[in-house]
Amino acid sequence: MGTLKLENLHVALEDGTEIVKGVDLEVGLDEVHAIMGPNGSGKSTLSYAIMGHPAYEITEGRILVDGEDVTELEANERAARGIFLAFQYPHAIPGVTVTSFLRSAINATRKARNGGVDDPIAIPEFRKTLLGEMDRLKVSRELASRYLNDGFSGGEKKRVEILQMAMLKPRFAVLDETDSGLDIDALRVVAGGVNELVGPEMGALVITHYQRILDYITPNYVHVFVDGRIVETGGADLAKKLEAEGYDPFIPAATGAEA
Ligand SMILES: Nc1ncnc2c1ncn2[C@@H]1O[C@H](COP(=O)(O)OP(=O)(O)O)[C@@H](O)[C@H]1O
Ligand SMILES: [Mg+2]
Repeated sequence: MGTLKLENLHVALEDGTEIVKGVDLEVGLDEVHAIMGPNGSGKSTLSYAIMGHPAYEITEGRILVDGEDVTELEANERAARGIFLAFQYPHAIPGVTVTSFLRSAINATRKARNGGVDDPIAIPEFRKTLLGEMDRLKVSRELASRYLNDGFSGGEKKRVEILQMAMLKPRFAVLDETDSGLDIDALRVVAGGVNELVGPEMGALVITHYQRILDYITPNYVHVFVDGRIVETGGADLAKKLEAEGYDPFIPAATGAEA
């Protein structure tokens, strides 16, 4: 076992527009899959649908975690089953500190895994883990007591997303353009965090427009994603090819009469 599986996944917006048009994908533990696609191809829509965002409707197909169909489950129920999404545009939550947010998130997951019975993490254990992860991911300690993402720089937001991932220890992490807007230092920290966590207990789906982050995270598989579909799958070398040639060879209209 140990798979996140998408079967013929179709996703539509609230107005009915279909954005994701039949995706088949199987991510195992200890695997990194990269999804690379141009802007507007539906990458964020795909990641929201995996997480269970209510504005993105799965109109056909299924999502399975370790064989269990989670297609109809709410986002929090999917989180309890080990799915995690690092957002492309993390939201600020004024009034909620990073520390209290993380503790609530951990306790919600622990409760769900404990058959719905509260099982809060002991404060000393929480603090020790938090400080250890913050040091490891080079998140400044001062951020812990600030309101989540409120006034954070782009790099700080992305580091805090990775901090969340390190604290929650999901089984399948989806990273939606976590590389965008990062300087090389922050990119290294983010990639280093992913590399350390991917292993027998976690697999990752790294969604990106640019090949850059894949210089630091070597994917087992690269999927080219155009117009809501995976149009080609290969190894890490496919990312290099995309860097050199761009997406045009994969876009039907671009190779047609107008190209
Ligand atoms: N909540 C939304 N409301 C309206 N349009 C949306 C919404 N989410 C995505 N779209 C549209 O769906 C298409 C795919 O967007 P998105 O999934 O963000 O692509 P990508 O992440 O690959 O850039 C775009 O045309 C975008 O404008
Ligand atoms: Mg996006």
